Amino acid sequence: MNSVIEVNHLRKTYGSVTAVDDISLQVSAGEIFAIVGPNGAGKTTAVESIMGLRRPDSGEIRVLGLNPQTQGRELKQRIGIQLQQAALPNRLKVWEALDLFATFYGRSLPWEPLLEAWGLTEKRSAQFGKLSGGQKQRLFIALALLNDPEVVFLDELTTGLDPQARHATWDAVLAIRDQGKTVVLVTHFMEEAEELADRLAIIDGGKVVACGTPQALIQELQAGSRVRFTSQNGFDAAVLRPLPGVTQVEQHGRHITVHGRGPLLSHVVTALTAANQNPVDLHVEQANLEDVFLALTGRKIRV
Ligand SMILES: Nc1ncnc2c1ncn2[C@@H]1O[C@H](COP(=O)(O)OP(=O)(O)O)[C@@H](O)[C@H]1O
Ligand SMILES: [Mg+2]
Repeated sequence: MNSVIEVNHLRKTYGSVTAVDDISLQVSAGEIFAIVGPNGAGKTTAVESIMGLRRPDSGEIRVLGLNPQTQGRELKQRIGIQLQQAALPNRLKVWEALDLFATFYGRSLPWEPLLEAWGLTEKRSAQFGKLSGGQKQRLFIALALLNDPEVVFLDELTTGLDPQARHATWDAVLAIRDQGKTVVLVTHFMEEAEELADRLAIIDGGKVVACGTPQALIQELQAGSRVRFTSQNGFDAAVLRPLPGVTQVEQHGRHITVHGRGPLLSHVVTALTAANQNPVDLHVEQANLEDVFLALTGRKIRV
């Protein structure tokens, strides 16, 4: 596969904080590559170094064969950027924003079709401050696509959106990939990465803790799964901890979740029967990327 991004041994510190601690990764042409991890993991630092917006302490970066440190001007013509901290003046009109951004680029697409494609035609004369959250994010996507980039970087695109706007934005991200562009998606939402990414890197504490397709990472958990049920009063879920294959037991009042691998359900049923428990809502959930993160780090991604 054609490599669009190559990162080797990237490191970036801020004073005594090591934000990115020896990250290496590779992104292929035409894929959605997600960089996922909890807040503070170093995702934005890593991706902004890759785009040439931050200066790393050490490491090698090539994007489309270019060195972002020394060939940043050339690179910025060929990449699309939506920053985590993106904001525009509230009174700037949608068309004015597009006109302004177009002046940054040597080449830019006609923006009417872009507005049409992102459902913003009616909003062309609206002020930025009057747009909904979803409309603002669609405008940022349109701005990131204005120079017809080969690689698009999207950092926390759906943070703050309601579920409906998030799902619409997910479709938008897939549409960008389907135009043949490479997408780097930075997010702290595991389900977003699982849904959208062809491949992903999980970042924690400035390091890549896992990299691969969502399916492969979940399978490497060796059929990890969760058993959930609501107990009758007075049941202490601690009795489930020593069961074979159990990695973690969570109890919130009467709601119990048992994490583990192997034939978890049958072990749990046996233990519940022995404890005279007969929960009606007992069910198994297959592992997802949240479980991968938990298994790798011992922590939940959101605490
Ligand atoms: N400009 C900065 N100056 C000092 N510390 C920073 C700066 N940017 C990020 N950090 C610190 O670096 C770490 C990683 O931050 P960041 O790259 O924003 O992570 P993420 O995007 O995964 O939330 C955090 O501890 C954060 O506080
Ligand atoms: Mg960030």
